Amino acid sequence: MWKLLHFFSVGILLASISADEHTHLYTDSEEVVLWMNTVGPYHNRQETYAYFSLPFCVGPKEEISHYHETLGEALQGVELEFSGLDIDFKGDMAKTAYCEIDLDEERLRTFIYSVKNHYWYQMYVDDLPIWGIVGEIGPNQDSYFLWTHKRFDIGYNGDRIVDVNLTSENKVDLKAGAKIKFTYEVNWKPSKVTFEERFNKYLDPNFFQHRIHWFSIFNSFMMVIFLVGLVFMILMRTLRKDYARYSKDEEMDDMERDLGDEYGWKQIHGDVFRSPAHPLLFSALIGTGHQLLCVCLLVIGLAIVGELYTERGSMVSIGIFVYAATSPLNGYFGGSLYARLGGRRWIRQMITSAFLLPGLVCGTAFFINFIAIYYHASRAIPFTIMLSVLCLCTFVILPLTLVGTVLGRNLSGQPNSPCRVNAVPRPIPEKKWFMEPWVIVPLGGVLPFGSIFIEMYFIFTSFWAYKIYYVYGFMLLVVILLLVVVICVTIVAAYFLLNAEDYRWHWTSFLAAGSTSVYVYVYATYYFFFKTKMYGLFQTTFYFGYMALFSGALGLLCGTVGYVGTRVFVTRIYSTVKID
Ligand SMILES: *[C@@H]1O[C@H](CO)[C@@H](O)[C@H](O)[C@H]1NC(C)=O
Repeated sequence: MWKLLHFFSVGILLASISADEHTHLYTDSEEVVLWMNTVGPYHNRQETYAYFSLPFCVGPKEEISHYHETLGEALQGVELEFSGLDIDFKGDMAKTAYCEIDLDEERLRTFIYSVKNHYWYQMYVDDLPIWGIVGEIGPNQDSYFLWTHKRFDIGYNGDRIVDVNLTSENKVDLKAGAKIKFTYEVNWKPSKVTFEERFNKYLDPNFFQHRIHWFSIFNSFMMVIFLVGLVFMILMRTLRKDYARYSKDEEMDDMERDLGDEYGWKQIHGDVFRSPAHPLLFSALIGTGHQLLCVCLLVIGLAIVGELYTERGSMVSIGIFVYAATSPLNGYFGGSLYARLGGRRWIRQMITSAFLLPGLVCGTAFFINFIAIYYHASRAIPFTIMLSVLCLCTFVILPLTLVGTVLGRNLSGQPNSPCRVNAVPRPIPEKKWFMEPWVIVPLGGVLPFGSIFIEMYFIFTSFWAYKIYYVYGFMLLVVILLLVVVICVTIVAAYFLLNAEDYRWHWTSFLAAGSTSVYVYVYATYYFFFKTKMYGLFQTTFYFGYMALFSGALGLLCGTVGYVGTRVFVTRIYSTVKID
């Protein structure tokens, strides 16, 4: 399955690195490669620059060129470059100088800037990440120091590398005209850590306390029980009363007869299945929502099974692959819905469906890319990668969506609503202000947001700070609870709306659930100002751009689930209405 992705990143992926990086097995005194990755401010893990964008120098050893990265790595801004340091498996190395730089004005300025901004750099040995700090600010804020000595303590277990520690030593005052000599040393130690456990030291169980997760899940679960009970009770009672009243026409009391023998939701049976406004956009959104839901569940499932955090960029690569592979779902659900709503321009609908999300993502990425290029950040996506993403959209996603659409239109494109739609739309009566869709919609997102915001904190923190997210089991539970809450809330909202004789439930249920994303975005804004220390144009656009995408996708997912749940409910209650 990876062949496909590899094919579309022609030339990028044809790697020429030694096989040991893949097997993780070494023989004595075999070469171990130290890759330099990125530097960036400590306060924003996502703002990174290539390591050698700082005036560091390369070691004497040559022959290995730029590392060839996968699509996921490229999109995440991985920039592996060979350090030039000579490291051999189990071969201790005493303190050795590997290069020297002359500190001219410009280099001095760059180093001082990076020390002032708490720059950290990241390296990899045998896929294990290592972090080191660039320098230190003097006690009176007037002098700046650079760490020049790197001591590597590498633990091995048999023929595998299981542990790496880096210690920065020997700080040098940054002064113009100075010559700075960089040194390193390597000490190999036998270790009892097994290869399977070697990533455990990067996980932070103190931060991802299980107690907090269980507490949050318990809270949401209580809310779910309450909501489901509420929905069940209110609706069953009301519906039963309505059914009873409807079937026993003769036994109605006088007052009700005066009010007319039909009221509330039943009044509008001739309009409730009328196509919503903008059916093309609506079905494209719903189709994409189905696909997103599937991608979300699959990727979380794979992350639980596969411990994806141990591999650079694998999450993104798998996400892209799963997204492309699930495109037929998008076509199927979007296309069939559009056919049922009586839409005729199905090709246009299909193209909108296929490119809705990729277009939004690429548009945002493109915009941020401009800024990244301006800042020379490693986040800047190379042209070849953009091209391969474009190819993926046109040659994989679009044809698969077409297949789905054709299947969807033919297999389930026939209108199947239980009530006929009247020729003339019924006017929507005046109602109390709190029954208006524009009030229901923002209220709809409150409870779903309430059920996820604790987990949001962990997700944000692992994305924007140096934490590895690994509790995907909890994430799955939270997502499931969220979906249940969303369905309950939208059903209640739609019921109120229909009872007020307003038949615009399609968009209302979609938007009421989708408004969760607005709360998530507001929370992200709060998080930006109070929990992170980001600053500057690049960090700000990067943060708000990608957060908008994230919240938008979440809203699309919730909206779709809410709409589908409500559709089941509406179809169910109207199928029992007897129409004379
Ligand atoms: C790395 O540091 C940890 C914590 O200080 C220590 O337990 C471990 O033995 C060290 N590993 C090596 C190879 O020195």
